[in-house]
Amino acid sequence: MHWTKRIAKTLESCLLVLSLGAGAYSAIGQTGPVTALQPGSTISASKQDWWKNAVIYEIYPRSFQDSNGDGIGDLNGITQRLDYLKDLGVDAIWLTPCYPSPQVDFGYDISDYKNIDPQYGTLADFDRLVAEAGKRHIRILMDMVMNHTSDKHEWFIQSRSSRDNPYRDWYVWRDGKGEMANHPKDEDLSLGAPATDKGAPPNNWQSEFGHSAWEWDPATRQYYYHKFYIQQPDVNWDNPKIHEAFKDIIGFWLRRGVSGFRFDAITTLFEDPNLADEGVVTGKDGKPRINAFGDPVLDNSKTDNLPGVHPVMQEMRAHVDTFSSGKFPGTRVLIGETYMANIADLAKMYGSAGKPEFHLPMDTQVGMINKLDVATFRARLNDVETGIGGNIPLLVFDNHDNPRLDARYGDGVHDIDIQRVISTVLLASRGTALFYYGDEIGMKTTPPTRKEDVKDPMGVTGWPKEKGRDGERTPMQWDVRANAGFTKGLPWLPVPPSASTINVEIEKFNPNSLLAWYQRLIRLKKINPALARGENVMLDTRNTKVLSWVRQAPGASAVVVLVNFTAEPQTVRLSVSGSGGKTRTLLKTPGGAEPVSLDQIVLGPFGVYIGEVQ
Ligand code: NOJ
Repeated sequence: MHWTKRIAKTLESCLLVLSLGAGAYSAIGQTGPVTALQPGSTISASKQDWWKNAVIYEIYPRSFQDSNGDGIGDLNGITQRLDYLKDLGVDAIWLTPCYPSPQVDFGYDISDYKNIDPQYGTLADFDRLVAEAGKRHIRILMDMVMNHTSDKHEWFIQSRSSRDNPYRDWYVWRDGKGEMANHPKDEDLSLGAPATDKGAPPNNWQSEFGHSAWEWDPATRQYYYHKFYIQQPDVNWDNPKIHEAFKDIIGFWLRRGVSGFRFDAITTLFEDPNLADEGVVTGKDGKPRINAFGDPVLDNSKTDNLPGVHPVMQEMRAHVDTFSSGKFPGTRVLIGETYMANIADLAKMYGSAGKPEFHLPMDTQVGMINKLDVATFRARLNDVETGIGGNIPLLVFDNHDNPRLDARYGDGVHDIDIQRVISTVLLASRGTALFYYGDEIGMKTTPPTRKEDVKDPMGVTGWPKEKGRDGERTPMQWDVRANAGFTKGLPWLPVPPSASTINVEIEKFNPNSLLAWYQRLIRLKKINPALARGENVMLDTRNTKVLSWVRQAPGASAVVVLVNFTAEPQTVRLSVSGSGGKTRTLLKTPGGAEPVSLDQIVLGPFGVYIGEVQ
């Protein structure tokens, strides 16, 4: 797993309702057919509040739908598939970067922030996508990479051209240590001096993608800092010109009609100005832990989550808010890539009254537990309910940087049932839900089997321990045609063999499919008042097999949600104060038993039950 896996232990608390015991399982039928959500049928869908109970769908444009046969997905392909997304019920699409880029990090190395990469289309195609999505009440969110640019961006080309170029200070340049210090600067600038004069890198900081985070530039005889690939130099956020440049870029896209941004790698904008070494993490044996690249694991204490990020976010939020009213009605939303170590750090990402920051910093505490452990889920869900000052949680389990859900939660036997469990936690909890293309059909992680096939450079550096991220970026599986309907050409990554059974076409016609389940859950999230806006209260808090919670909102019937985290049947007994002990089924696992009463809800292996308390 990657830098994304930063998880901390948190508290468990709070129960309103109790449950007792376990018993047998019996199965009956399936709930009714799914109909597409009609615009306007949702609760709290006002322009200002659209993001508060929203469903956001992440699209990796390269892998979603190819429209021109070059084997690479594109914007017109996404436009062709908007009706599918409308039927699924999504409110917004987060597009990973589609700006011009050398594609070293598949778009996260941007060389021009105000255009579209020709591989993906044109600005006109982008405008058409925004307009067509708008007609279907779907908003477009862009990915904004402010930590670094491509080394082919004009700013960096200028910056590296000489030490006195006006753009020099737009990036993080430092002298090497040791030998270099013994050389007067003017002499060092003379080209052709021996390479050994560079000395050692300024400190021990490492790239997330392996090895030193410092790259020597022979022409100007200094090192530049790159938290990610060598081709992704970090910009210098101590330079006010960087602030203005990014505000200008943000305005450019907001004026084109986007509804917000996901801020990439936002916690790494700043580094320790004193360049102190980072601590080396040791294992239980006291020896340094070594990562897949063969480097010691560092504690990230000097390059991640430094306080400077908060004023920057306040500034960006104030800027974006000026687009949310008047000429541009509708909240423009800021989502953060915020892998925080604990709920208190996540809470800070929302900002404070009068100084707001993100609308929706991602909570990865729940989604990246990577183990079906009821107690941890309960504690983390409780944290996000109680620990973020009444803000809106953004739950996320999956993205283009982590192995898919099958690899992190599956058992190889009940993978689809387990994904029903996961999707229920995601979509039946309070707040906004974000999922990754293909999750809704159960796409499987399919990593390359040979080093020579790897596309993500970190998979080459880290092979075979770290195979990179190709496995979670394979083409969307639409149907049973060649290449799963993704392209008429040669796909940039192979289509997984599982596409013959896991695809939209087949699942669309199967009422018991995972796709049908997602559609039903999303629909419930939108139309049921308790699920749309009710608070989450954990139930039956000693149960280690079944996670249960109740959603309750003033004036609405409470809704109970139960998910069996085990491969064995379980019986749960709930007693809800003020209820008649009955429940009306809203949704349950295909074949799941109809409960007799609240004090006898039988769940099959990895079974789910959602019911309205009567
Ligand atoms: C996080 C993105 O999600 C990942 O794909 C990218 O490689 C890094 N940030 C660097 O931009």
